[in-house]
Amino acid sequence: MQARVLVSMVKDKRGCYISSYPLGLLIKGARLRNWEGMYDVLIENSTISEISPEIKNSDSDIIEARGRILMPSFTDMHFHLDSALTQGLFSGNKSGTLLEGIEIWSQLKRRLTTEDIFNRASRAVKFIVSNGTTRLRTHADVSDPELRTLKALKLVKEEFKDIIDIQITAFPQDGIFTNKNNSELLEKAVEEGADNIGIIPHNEFTREDGIRSIDFAFDLAKKYGRNIDGHVDETDDEQSRFLEVLAAKTIREGYQGKVAAGHVTAMHSYGGSYMQKIIGMLKLGRITIVANPLVNIHLQGRYDSYPKRRGIARIKQLLAEGINVTLGHDCIMDPWYPMGKGDMLQALFMAVHLEQMTGIDEIKKSFDLITSNPAIALGVSSSYGIQKGRLADLVLLDAKDEVEALAKLLPPLLVIKSGRIVARRNELITSILHKSREEELPKDIIETP
Ligand code: FE2
Repeated sequence: MQARVLVSMVKDKRGCYISSYPLGLLIKGARLRNWEGMYDVLIENSTISEISPEIKNSDSDIIEARGRILMPSFTDMHFHLDSALTQGLFSGNKSGTLLEGIEIWSQLKRRLTTEDIFNRASRAVKFIVSNGTTRLRTHADVSDPELRTLKALKLVKEEFKDIIDIQITAFPQDGIFTNKNNSELLEKAVEEGADNIGIIPHNEFTREDGIRSIDFAFDLAKKYGRNIDGHVDETDDEQSRFLEVLAAKTIREGYQGKVAAGHVTAMHSYGGSYMQKIIGMLKLGRITIVANPLVNIHLQGRYDSYPKRRGIARIKQLLAEGINVTLGHDCIMDPWYPMGKGDMLQALFMAVHLEQMTGIDEIKKSFDLITSNPAIALGVSSSYGIQKGRLADLVLLDAKDEVEALAKLLPPLLVIKSGRIVARRNELITSILHKSREEELPKDIIETP
């Protein structure tokens, strides 16, 4: 990619550079997701103002896409900004289990200050945006009486609102009824500005408490006008069946379209007839399923011998049944997951492998999981997507199509939020030194026809 005309740069009052396109930004020669052929895309103010095979508008700043694919920017539907990048502050999750991760975090979170959490989360946000994500739902653990994580993540949300839309879910990590203060803290977090209400019913002491925790969350949701965003059945125990309780409650309370269920890994082990019942209820409740393939392939199946279960929500089956399925990265370098760089392409890469969605058309379609499907869940479909008049929230990938993007897993060339470039990458050049000669590797794995 070459910018034929460099994006004009001006300084704000603090002396920082900001991007400015008074005459618009014209992306030339891009392939567009779900469109045939190559197009020029003109962005004016914050929206896409024109899409055409050729736009002659010499006044605009121009980006040459050279056949790269331009698509709507990504959404991460499930992330933990409060614990991100804490690796190094603890000795490591030796068993690789969810329970050891929770135990490490319960000790670690007592020593983190609001400033610590803000600094680490800010670093994580920059990586996340640079990898093409401009919408993110984060959980904030609200089990601390001072609500330090919520305070820190509210500051992060405000600090980075020009480059990413963040929603905060008040997350009762230790359960709502495992400690007498937790239910009050959850309500306090909502009063102090959390956007969504979290649950973790499988972590409550008993099944009855789990059911009660879902009832409690709905009472809060109705009282404060919030949506539900849960950790649900994150276990390999096929007897963990809180998804049915959540779906039934959603239907009875008329909360269709306002509930997301994250992880739901127990579903992997459900029998066929029970799964069919669940699918019917998910449809009735219009519940969004949020799979977290990177973290759950790491955490699940840890108590199995061979063969080991994959422990992943049934993405492929749910999509075939018309359920809205999305993805989350979940964690980066924290007590639950020692790797990751905030890249939703990596999460998608893992998902298509685990679910064997690896036919060429399946791979292309799988990008819905990180683009249009979360837009449905967040209620922003009417302003999102590559269409004239829609918000210019876009990502230009260093690949000619979706398949090459997942094959190469390169960071995006450009990330655009509300019409402004919010991240960009310079050329990455890799050479092979072979038989005393240096050969630069081609940019395309498969030559663009
Ligand atoms: Fe999670």
